[in-house]
Amino acid sequence: MIRKLAMAAVLTVAAGAASAQDCTAVTVEDQFDLTEEQIGVLYECLSEKMATGYAKEGDAIAANYRDWAPTATRAAVAGAHQNRLLNTFANDIAAEQYLKFEEEGVVMPIGSILAKESITISLKKKAARPGPLFTMIKVGTDLAPDAGGWLYGGIQPNGKVMKVKQSFCHDCHVGWEAQDSLGYPVHEVRLGN
Ligand code: HEC
Repeated sequence: MIRKLAMAAVLTVAAGAASAQDCTAVTVEDQFDLTEEQIGVLYECLSEKMATGYAKEGDAIAANYRDWAPTATRAAVAGAHQNRLLNTFANDIAAEQYLKFEEEGVVMPIGSILAKESITISLKKKAARPGPLFTMIKVGTDLAPDAGGWLYGGIQPNGKVMKVKQSFCHDCHVGWEAQDSLGYPVHEVRLGN
């Protein structure tokens, strides 16, 4: 226990000293071995940098998503979306239905937006930095017949809009067809679960 506390203190100090520019002080050997505390330190260290970076070019989702409903108690690694810590926010239209995390017959209302921050873990550098803000906007099947009515998108950590191939995203998300193509955060971090 004492060792664990000491470890947390070391991590906190190290992350503080590293400033918002650089979270390399938290050594990441394996993204699946990160403790809740380590994830907290990394998130705190990169939180501001993510939000300001995504909003840099004036994207409306990037500028607003932090005021939306959180969907998880903390960022977590899902395995898909590569070596990334993920944290999803839901806009007003999406939040009520999304937060039920239902598994059957889900139909998200048009205008729903999910915005998912990501922290990219470089196993080579054993460090973390902001990854893209992934987005899903429910536009309806008239506009997006091949993607389940969703428009997939992304904003780079520098605020630039990413070119996103709809089929690349949807081919994986369609695996959750009964959940209206939503993957949901991993169970242990779902809000209210
Ligand atoms: C290999 C599978 C896979 C691919 C490809 C993929 N995703 Fe996801 N996505 C997931 C999983 C798994 C989750 C849920 C895990 C989590 O958020 O913690 C998820 C969650 C999301 C969410 C949060 C809403 C939800 O589903 O719960 C958004 C937004 C999102 N992805 C956008 C994208 C975009 C944009 C692309 C394409 C650039 C993409 N995804 C490609 C697997 C994938």
